[in-house]
Amino acid sequence: MDLLCLYRSTLLMDGLLFLLMLADPALPAGSRPPVVLVPGDMGNQLEAKLDKPSVVHYVCSKKTDHYFTLWLNLELLLPFIIDCWIDNIRLVYNQTSHTTQFPEGVDVRVPGFGDTFSLEFLDPSKSSVGSYLHTMVEGLVSWGYERGKDLRGAPYDWRRAPNENGPYFLALRKMIEEMYQLYKGPVVLVAHSMGNMYMLYFLQQQPQDWKDKYILAFVALGPPWGGVAKTLRVLASGDNNRIPVIKSLKIRAQQRSAVSTTWLLPYNYTWSPQKVFVHTPKANYTLQDYRQFFQDIGFKDGWSMRQDTEGLIEATVPPGVRLHCLYGTGVPTPESYDYESFPDRDPKIRYGSGDGTVNLQSALHCQTWRGLQKQEVSLQALPGNEHIAMLANTTTLAYLKHVLLGP
Ligand SMILES: *[C@@H]1O[C@H](CO)[C@@H](O)[C@H](O)[C@H]1NC(C)=O
Ligand SMILES: *[C@@H]1O[C@H](CO)[C@@H](O)[C@H](O)[C@H]1NC(C)=O
Ligand SMILES: *[C@@H]1O[C@H](CO)[C@@H](O)[C@H](O)[C@H]1NC(C)=O
Ligand SMILES: *[C@@H]1O[C@H](CO)[C@@H](O)[C@H](O)[C@H]1NC(C)=O
Repeated sequence: MDLLCLYRSTLLMDGLLFLLMLADPALPAGSRPPVVLVPGDMGNQLEAKLDKPSVVHYVCSKKTDHYFTLWLNLELLLPFIIDCWIDNIRLVYNQTSHTTQFPEGVDVRVPGFGDTFSLEFLDPSKSSVGSYLHTMVEGLVSWGYERGKDLRGAPYDWRRAPNENGPYFLALRKMIEEMYQLYKGPVVLVAHSMGNMYMLYFLQQQPQDWKDKYILAFVALGPPWGGVAKTLRVLASGDNNRIPVIKSLKIRAQQRSAVSTTWLLPYNYTWSPQKVFVHTPKANYTLQDYRQFFQDIGFKDGWSMRQDTEGLIEATVPPGVRLHCLYGTGVPTPESYDYESFPDRDPKIRYGSGDGTVNLQSALHCQTWRGLQKQEVSLQALPGNEHIAMLANTTTLAYLKHVLLGP
């Protein structure tokens, strides 16, 4: 997720929203399939409560009486305060159990499961910079949907990969079954970015008869099925998403600790094993060189994290439900990196096609499931659509409306 893009797309969204509301009088209730929205990496709020034995800086709080917003609160990203934030939002990897823990004295929870607020606005102050799925939700509401009723959100702890989010999938399954009962029909899953990987994992775990009964369709927006090249840079040198007050190297520790980043490294079913993602004066790294890569960047836990997670999704097992893939094309998307000094300096970026975040070939993995499942697989390119901006694009929303309400 790119904060700057979020901000830019918000400006666009406000205008589009107005047009949408004019164009779509609400339909009578009862004719709509229920919808579950699944956000991407960094795509929903997280809250924390502290009772820590020690802090990294005197300005940091040691103890709080209540849960406070850990993501996203821009005030926590200010100089000095950001050190407190990093020390709270990082995960601690346990080499023995191959699981992550919260730092001592930090409790993190995901607010709003079943509701939409935590993915409409990342920042509860609803400042425009944190607007995420709000425009889409407003669109759905204008078509007759009701927040928290036949339109629900499924936020999760996006720092972790699915292997550490077991209770989430149980809650999701229960919620889908409940919505099916309440609204007398199967559910449409609408996911963005990494949320698609989460849903693919979920669907691969469910028996076919469950999917046939409960899932009407799966709308995949900007799906990174085969991983994204950008993760190598995030892990090597950190990525401040062009926010000048945040130093890439500073945020790197937190970014490395999120197992989901390693899970999203490029996969060999999408990229050639010969493709070099990172050039340095001393080495060239392909997807066969991850072990060496993690060693050379001084982050050996990363190799364990990758091994823990790379088999979670089976590329050749289709979701087994009616699938719509919508993906941005033609936006310069990082494809490989040249480091003059590795890994502590920002690299030179080489670009390919995609949506600015997800590489085109990764999204196109949808194609390979055609013929592997009896349910139809549709692909829809969205030329010029950036990863976040696509969520508010009129073409995307019109497509979604067509899936939900028909012609
Ligand atoms: C790491 O996991 C092991 C095995 O589950 C456990 O015994 C150990 O206490 C954990 N280490 C820490 C620091 O929590
Ligand atoms: C792709 O990677 C997986 C996991 O490392 C490995 O088991 C598999 O053999 C690889 N496939 C090819 C074609 O290289
Ligand atoms: C990396 O690959 C380039 C060609 O893409 C080659 O010229 C260079 O010698 C390689 N560098 C190393 C250190 O292997
Ligand atoms: C929305 O997406 C379509 C299809 O990719 C594109 O042609 C159009 O320019 C986009 N609209 C905006 C406002 O970006």
